[in-house]
Amino acid sequence: MIVSSLRWGISATRPAYRQVLASRAPVVRRGYVAPSSKSAMATILDNNRGKSRVANDDDLDAHPVSREEIFSRAMEDGKTERPANRPIYLDAQSTTPVDPRVLDAMMPYYINQYGNPHSRTHAYGWETEHAAEQGRKYIAELINADPKEIIFTSGATESNNMSLKGVARFYKSKKNHIITTQTEHKCVLDSCRALQEEGFEVTYLPVKSNGQVDLEELKKALRPTTAIVSIMTVNNEIGVIQPIKEIGELLKTYGAELAKELGRGTPKPFFHTDAAQALGKIPIDVNDAGVDLMSMSSHKLYGPKGLGACFVRRRPRVRLEPIISGGGQERGLRSGTLPTPLVVGFGEAARLAKQEMVYDHAHISALSKRLRDNIMSRVEMVLLNGDPDGYPGCTNLTFQYIEGESLLMALKDICLSSGSACTSASLEPSYVLRALGLDDANAHSSLRFGIGRFTTEEEIDFVCDKIVAVVNRLRELSPLWEMVQDGIDLKTIEWSG
Ligand SMILES: Cc1ncc(COP(=O)(O)O)c(C=O)c1O
Repeated sequence: MIVSSLRWGISATRPAYRQVLASRAPVVRRGYVAPSSKSAMATILDNNRGKSRVANDDDLDAHPVSREEIFSRAMEDGKTERPANRPIYLDAQSTTPVDPRVLDAMMPYYINQYGNPHSRTHAYGWETEHAAEQGRKYIAELINADPKEIIFTSGATESNNMSLKGVARFYKSKKNHIITTQTEHKCVLDSCRALQEEGFEVTYLPVKSNGQVDLEELKKALRPTTAIVSIMTVNNEIGVIQPIKEIGELLKTYGAELAKELGRGTPKPFFHTDAAQALGKIPIDVNDAGVDLMSMSSHKLYGPKGLGACFVRRRPRVRLEPIISGGGQERGLRSGTLPTPLVVGFGEAARLAKQEMVYDHAHISALSKRLRDNIMSRVEMVLLNGDPDGYPGCTNLTFQYIEGESLLMALKDICLSSGSACTSASLEPSYVLRALGLDDANAHSSLRFGIGRFTTEEEIDFVCDKIVAVVNRLRELSPLWEMVQDGIDLKTIEWSG
């Protein structure tokens, strides 16, 4: 049956989800409909054929089943085994799978409730506007913001561009200085480069060896003319968590003092944080942290791809020049028709993240510890990059005397990355690892392990065994490793050519 294979196909690729989700608490009824009884999808399809009424929450609640049930039904369907040739996915920083519950929430807005949420003259518009506003509310609740402060964009890349370029250009008559760090995502660094071309001055702060910014360095870099400071919450390559509360405090106090030199009423430096890797993974409170602008991405949070958001503070108001002009949607800051299904999906992903953050964090921490302990106890000369107390779902390890790309090639049945997906096409060593002080050789020998909500213990154990075997094999073939084994200090060797 089309409906059920469409629905269950989502979880089908990962039979192990069954084990993970079945153990999650609390059981969420919304969106799970017994496939044998008339499902929400069937109701919607019927409705499209002009037979029935709109599916609503009552329909959904009418046939609740537990997650266990869902997955056992999915398992009974012969097509639901993970195909033997599907590799294990350990790249959660690049993107995450859509949570089946998120897809359930989105479906009605593709097929039946398809109105333009900006249509004010009819019910199709009203119902999608209501759904989109509910999604906005869930995202706001996740970061303790007002829903009016959530501006939808196409993703964190756009939110970062919008924040940096928007604020810098708006305040350019008074301020021309921007501060960021050397370890930001490419889209922040490239936005800053573009602003330099326009005449702005940018300070790229170095980071400490654990990847955190030095608050003293930040203080020294602040100027009366600093318009915006952009420092990410969680780094996408090493998982380091920045002290955003302390940064927010510094800008509110010392930053505001400096700004007064330009005259009363001059705003303090605005604080922008790229939270693409932090949203829903660690608690964030924009008010507590003194954040003025925050970039978010749906696809890093088990939500649909193609949508992001930017928190833009209303009180005190942050002003920015929009980078996209048009119909004036999203408080005039980002024109364009809201994609209701995506907004509903992102909202549902945010609601689930808030509800399950403690569980997710415990699950991911336990798997991360299992991975680190297993590999580091069985393989010598492995270094953990970044801060050991960073976000555990992002573990970056250096396997000394092995070339990272060869390691990746030998690990065909595991999807890993040697850094950011955006820069993986380049053979340059990671600029993030270089900023921590790693030399080129160690930076080239590093892998990022991205653990997510649906990763299982079995997968971690498989990965560890595989890594241990491959590292040992590659080192056996490596003349450098042989020299190290013979006690030769490679730094003392003068290489010819
Ligand atoms: C820290 C960080 N910022 C921004 C982005 C870009 O996000 P999006 O794919 O939503 O544009 C990413 C994605 O890799 C990221 O990890």
